[in-house]
Amino acid sequence: MLRLMRDPNLLPSEKQTLLSNIANLAASLGMPCYVVGGFVRDLLLGRPVNDLDVVVEGDAIKLGKKLVETYGGKLTTHFKFHTAIWHLPDSDDFVDLITARKETYDRPGALPTITPATIEDDLLRRDFSINAMALRLDGEGFGEVLDPLKGQTDLERGVIQVLHPKSFVDDPTRIFRAIRYESRYGFALDADTQALINPEALKVLHSLSGERLRHELDLILDEPHSVQMILRIASLGVLAAIHPKMPEFNADHEDFLEMDMRLDVEADRRVMSYMFWFIDLSEADVITLANRLDFTNELTLAVWAAAQLKRGMPHLIDLRPSEWTYALEKLPLLSIYAVYLISRESALLSYISIWRHVKPQTNGDDLKKLGLQPGPRFGEILTELRSAWLDGVLSNKTEEEELLRSLIAPRS
Ligand code: CTP
Repeated sequence: MLRLMRDPNLLPSEKQTLLSNIANLAASLGMPCYVVGGFVRDLLLGRPVNDLDVVVEGDAIKLGKKLVETYGGKLTTHFKFHTAIWHLPDSDDFVDLITARKETYDRPGALPTITPATIEDDLLRRDFSINAMALRLDGEGFGEVLDPLKGQTDLERGVIQVLHPKSFVDDPTRIFRAIRYESRYGFALDADTQALINPEALKVLHSLSGERLRHELDLILDEPHSVQMILRIASLGVLAAIHPKMPEFNADHEDFLEMDMRLDVEADRRVMSYMFWFIDLSEADVITLANRLDFTNELTLAVWAAAQLKRGMPHLIDLRPSEWTYALEKLPLLSIYAVYLISRESALLSYISIWRHVKPQTNGDDLKKLGLQPGPRFGEILTELRSAWLDGVLSNKTEEEELLRSLIAPRS
């Protein structure tokens, strides 16, 4: 383990220093200090570690304050959970500081009530054996692995196993987590654990807040094997439990998620994923699910627009470029790009790369100089000029001036 911790490919040297600084301060406060969860799991798998979750037997907030005093940065505190987040100085990085605790759930799916406890209790409250290991950081015990639930054996066997039969009922977000680890590492759910994703647990899922559900789906969508994960949760009855209208992900669209974005369309993998996932839904179903999953207005608009545009395509096919442009201009660019990827309709590509940038050379100031009073007619004239450019009626400035003269000439 010590060898893995000193491997800069798994743990960059600045993180190694950070951990030893935390450990030294914790030791000076007399607090046994551990790094837990995904850190230990990924290190043992020989994978680079991401987040640092530090657990102390003692007051994590006190440790956080001392860290800020000594090394700078900022602290966010959660007194109810006895936790803090230490935002490191001059960086976007942070460390979660946790007081070792026991958890009880007042009702299924509720956030837990917590009581400070030992590291062993803290490991027992966790989701899976592979996430219930701790690595001691302070003093004599440095580098010692605590693995009371045989997480290391499950890591070697590639098995995901809950720690007690009520785990999914207490916290059904763990169902998503299990599937994430299964696909990410090529592991399998232990048969008894899979059997616990039963109607009782799925029922709790039904009452989970949109925000918590979307957070779990977002994390799935960030993963390279997201589509496989969605199909898997669908087969376990999870999607139907979230809402009966939740569709499966059309696997034909999977490759589009890997598209590197060109054409100056800024692609957000999550937004793209929700668009492809919900693109065949009716307008009413998109809105229902956007509400259920607590989508932001921006995400709702992107998904709604993609679904509407895909459905409306047959009515747009024979339009002129100017008509395409005015129909598409109100829609988010990413939604148009998504429908282009599915339909390969060249007009959509022309809109994205060319038409939306086309403008007449004349502007409002030019019209004023020609003696026109600002008003609705201004916009109409500029639109007519733009349409003429888009539809290939104009090809140079002289032709534009000619058309402009005819447009502003008094009508007889
Ligand atoms: N945890 C838990 N139950 C949850 C969420 C988290 O028991 N519903 C525990 C697990 O021990 C987990 C740790 O909290 O390892 C940290 O959670 P998180 O940062 O979400 O997960 P990671 O283990 O870092 O995994 P990932 O790589 O997916 O982020």
